[in-house]
Amino acid sequence: MLICIPEILSKEEVAGIRRLMDAADWEDGRSTAGAQSAMVKKNEQLPPDGDLARKLGAHIVSALTRNATFVSAAIPMQIFPPLFNRYGVGQKFGIHVDNAVRGDPLTGLRIRTDLSATLFLAEPDEYDGGDLVVEDYYGSHEVKLPAGDLVLYPSKSLHMVTEVTRGARVASFMWMQSMIRDDHARSMIFDLDNSIQSLSDRIGRDDPDAVRLTGVYHNLIRYWAET
Ligand code: NI
Repeated sequence: MLICIPEILSKEEVAGIRRLMDAADWEDGRSTAGAQSAMVKKNEQLPPDGDLARKLGAHIVSALTRNATFVSAAIPMQIFPPLFNRYGVGQKFGIHVDNAVRGDPLTGLRIRTDLSATLFLAEPDEYDGGDLVVEDYYGSHEVKLPAGDLVLYPSKSLHMVTEVTRGARVASFMWMQSMIRDDHARSMIFDLDNSIQSLSDRIGRDDPDAVRLTGVYHNLIRYWAET
């Protein structure tokens, strides 16, 4: 399941983050890549353990956890400190799968990567190319979203970033471990939640059938959730 979530950050927040990022020192993006991805990765990133990445990352994590659609779709248990990257002209990230486990040397956090997310920090008209391409059961999806929007997809998906041919693609990306490990289970729970929300809007939140379905939703989460 690939989900696009609009307006995780406001345009003002994006502009503030971009000002700090544009003034920062960048390093070669291969420092956080596994041996296989390092061969196909060509971009720059903010030093992942640096103060700026951690500070901006904490801001993004708190925006994510306030977003009801994100929480409903990801049911996150742990969010890995977000990373920040930039692809200039001629840069790209060839097809790869992310590491299954990720460890953070600063905090000792170790997570299973169930979900990957990209938060776009450049507007689509600032650059050409630089599409995120994600493959799933239904084919391949090209994603390029307005600044402040996020795409969420299973970390096991093959994906790539196409070569930038004009301007620069700036983004933050992050991995998370979900309380619901299974992608299909998580996807069904998300569908059910959305149906309950729209049904409740039509028939009223206190309608007995809406209440009963909400109970089913709660029990499904309790059945599948790992803690
Ligand atoms: Ni990746």
